[in-house]
Amino acid sequence: MKKLHEGKIINIEKECKDTYKLSFKSDLRDIEAGQFLSILCPPKTLRRPFGVYDFNDGVITILFRLRGDGTNYLKNLKIGDTINFNAPLGHGFIQKDKKALIVGAGIGAAPLIYLNKQLKEKGIETRLISGFKEEDEVIKGSDYNKIGGTIVDEVEKYIDEFKPEVIYCCAPYIVLKLVSEIGLKRNIEVQVAMEKIMACGIGVCRGCIIQIKKKDKIENRSICGDGPVFYGCEVAWE
Ligand SMILES: Cc1cc2nc3c(=O)[nH]c(=O)nc-3n(C[C@H](O)[C@H](O)[C@H](O)COP(=O)(O)OP(=O)(O)OC[C@H]3O[C@@H](n4cnc5c(N)ncnc54)[C@H](O)[C@@H]3O)c2cc1C
Ligand code: FES
Repeated sequence: MKKLHEGKIINIEKECKDTYKLSFKSDLRDIEAGQFLSILCPPKTLRRPFGVYDFNDGVITILFRLRGDGTNYLKNLKIGDTINFNAPLGHGFIQKDKKALIVGAGIGAAPLIYLNKQLKEKGIETRLISGFKEEDEVIKGSDYNKIGGTIVDEVEKYIDEFKPEVIYCCAPYIVLKLVSEIGLKRNIEVQVAMEKIMACGIGVCRGCIIQIKKKDKIENRSICGDGPVFYGCEVAWE
């Protein structure tokens, strides 16, 4: 599948505090939850990576939180404008036919809403729980939203109640690490979507390397090419 694409914007709207929903038509036939696209945000030359919030009949929707020049460029786009993007990139969540607890925090909940939709379409029982700093940051679509504190505190309670066989997580680094530790302790597989600032986004510059444990060796892997999704038990957490 050709990776460089142009998309025509069909909708852009504010979702919640500092967060926008952008939908555009593409010629992509499929993109997995957890895979990402990197969007050209002129005059910046480095593309900005975003997960997929929804994909339907070629229409890609992303949810982005304002950070700097790139996301402010996206915010100012209008219906009918064209965007240039590279996709599908990386490896998404390995969707198992297993009861799934899905754990998100902040903007990390966005790609999980697409994952939740895909799993439900396959008839898999899921529970999506998310944490947000404030009420006005909440992204709709979760079964449970925790405001303030950390969603990590809820994970063991949901393991006891819901008895998941796999946990999927997209959140800040510390949440990914702690949820992976819970998974190890409770003997439940955890898949984590890792994030780092990216330069090339296609596995070439080695700017997004993380360390992965393979048997008794530590190996380097790129988040953009080998990930962004990894097994939590294999990440050499700092
Ligand atoms: C695989 C992947 C998927 C992503 N999916 C989403 C998504 O669905 N929605 C979303 O809102 N964001 C997502 N991000 C983060 C997004 O790529 C950045 O917010 C964006 O690139 C910022 O660009 P900018 O030009 O606006 O900010 P910049 O000017 O590049 O940066 C502004 C500030 O934000 C910090 N920053 C930039 N990128 C990151 C980052 N990745 N992590 C932590 N701090 C950062 C910079 O250090 C700087 O302080 C994802 C990142 C990755 C790697
Ligand atoms: S960003 Fe270049 S290798 Fe990942």
